[in-house]
Amino acid sequence: MILRWTTTRLSAALAAALPAALALAACGDNASTSQVNFAINGDRFEAETPEAKPAEPTPEHSAAPEEPTGPGHVALNLLIGDVDPATDPNFARIPDKYIGGTRVWGHKDAVEAFVRMAEGAAANGYKLTVVSAFRSFDDQKQIWEDKWTGKTLVEKSKLSNTIPDPDARAKKILEYSSMPGTSRHHWGTDFDLNGLSNAYFSTRDGKRVYDWLTEHAAEYGFCQVYTAKGEERPTGYEEEKWHWSYVPVASWYLKQYPVDVGYERLTGFEGSDAAKDIDVIKNYVQGINPACK
Ligand code: DAL
Ligand code: ZN
Repeated sequence: MILRWTTTRLSAALAAALPAALALAACGDNASTSQVNFAINGDRFEAETPEAKPAEPTPEHSAAPEEPTGPGHVALNLLIGDVDPATDPNFARIPDKYIGGTRVWGHKDAVEAFVRMAEGAAANGYKLTVVSAFRSFDDQKQIWEDKWTGKTLVEKSKLSNTIPDPDARAKKILEYSSMPGTSRHHWGTDFDLNGLSNAYFSTRDGKRVYDWLTEHAAEYGFCQVYTAKGEERPTGYEEEKWHWSYVPVASWYLKQYPVDVGYERLTGFEGSDAAKDIDVIKNYVQGINPACK
């Protein structure tokens, strides 16, 4: 999949950055931010930025033994966000000048590629700002449970009151937020850029930067994974014009994900029973823009 994407979508500049990812793939079987946007879209702000660490006991998944890391194999803990990016060598800090929120870590290859893309954008008069980046399982658990319990309003409603049915409530949250253990933000390969609402990307400034990204992000290895739903992408999250993924690493993680992550891993949070009912791995984790695979 990496090779197909490379030949069809990547520029020579990206190809130069690929050897490490290709070598790995070949070896084995594989809350502050863009204030304008938050002012425009309070719900999304609430949805994406609760930052306080949860005080819950260690989730069940942490007790599982770590998979051995071999060539081409992504360790289970990296797939589900059970990692401290400050100490794990797979991660690097995003330079402060590009940070627009509290999430500052990404996969080291993705950060390097992002910096190149941001420099390319800046040279053409566009400013890229990272509103969200790596999020751990616990970070995602907090976002998810705050919506589940009604602490964070979704479309101005407390879902705990308005949607009592667990599967229906989970599906509502899944329009824009992933279940803990299933987010691409766990991988450090995906960044939310410049805003958190599609409406922002229809404003003059937002559209300019979105048009630049749709034209040039692939030159740096980035792809919009959550495009408009339709024939090409029938299931999954709603469109997210802000969410860009570094494909050379993310496609490798995505391939490994269903091999190593089953529903027995997606536990330890409110509403987790809905994961299997909804088949979130097939319909959401794998429900991405096919051009980004
Ligand atoms: N907003 C994306 C789907 C996430 O929560 O990972
Ligand atoms: Zn995102």
